[in-house]
Amino acid sequence: MIVTIDGPAGAGKSSAARELARRLDFQFLDTGAMYRAVTLAAQREGIDLADADALLRVAKGCEITATGDQVTLNGQDVTREIRASSVTAATHHAADHQGVRAHLTELQRHAGRHRDIVTEGRDQATVVFRDAECKIYLTASEEVRAERRYIDLVNRGERVSLQDVLDQQRDRDGRDKARPQGGLAKADGAIRVSTDGMSHDEVVAKLMDIVQQCKPTG
Ligand code: DC
Repeated sequence: MIVTIDGPAGAGKSSAARELARRLDFQFLDTGAMYRAVTLAAQREGIDLADADALLRVAKGCEITATGDQVTLNGQDVTREIRASSVTAATHHAADHQGVRAHLTELQRHAGRHRDIVTEGRDQATVVFRDAECKIYLTASEEVRAERRYIDLVNRGERVSLQDVLDQQRDRDGRDKARPQGGLAKADGAIRVSTDGMSHDEVVAKLMDIVQQCKPTG
């Protein structure tokens, strides 16, 4: 069974999807982490991220795992590093690159082959797993999402203002929606859940309910 969870940044997809996968005993896949890891690899190699050929070469040379609590790049733990603002701000190069998208789409499909999976991202229901049995679109208001990201960054020791986070988020939402391939969109048949005012546990409980309803009977 494939459960897709798509939605904008800051809707709480990652933590909810991870916990959902744990409770269902399904494989978890964080596809945003894959785009971030490619970006980090390119930054480490010092290439120009706007150089499409160089970026694709880096992407194809990366070994990424994004299925557990840790994200690894070529065997090294990069869980924290890929969440830095410098990586977040540059990830659009990888996300806008059709070749990189095609490559990561293949890896994502491979992760879902022969396994039950909860996968989260932007295009999991619309592109990567169009035949998924259970499609969820997880969202929240822009203020709530920005506040969550702000608290997260402050806890990481970054000096940012809530207004800056909100402005960057608007910029990212715009790019995510405008992307011609794999852009953020609710798939036909996806169930929309707004997490405004809901605790983490309430979100997970709601998702569990939805998955139970998607399960084939008999
Ligand atoms: O979910 P996230 O913030 O970690 O994602 C980082 C970026 O990667 C986001 O701005 C959009 C892009 N992304 C994508 O294009 N397709 C996905 N399936 C997941 C993320």
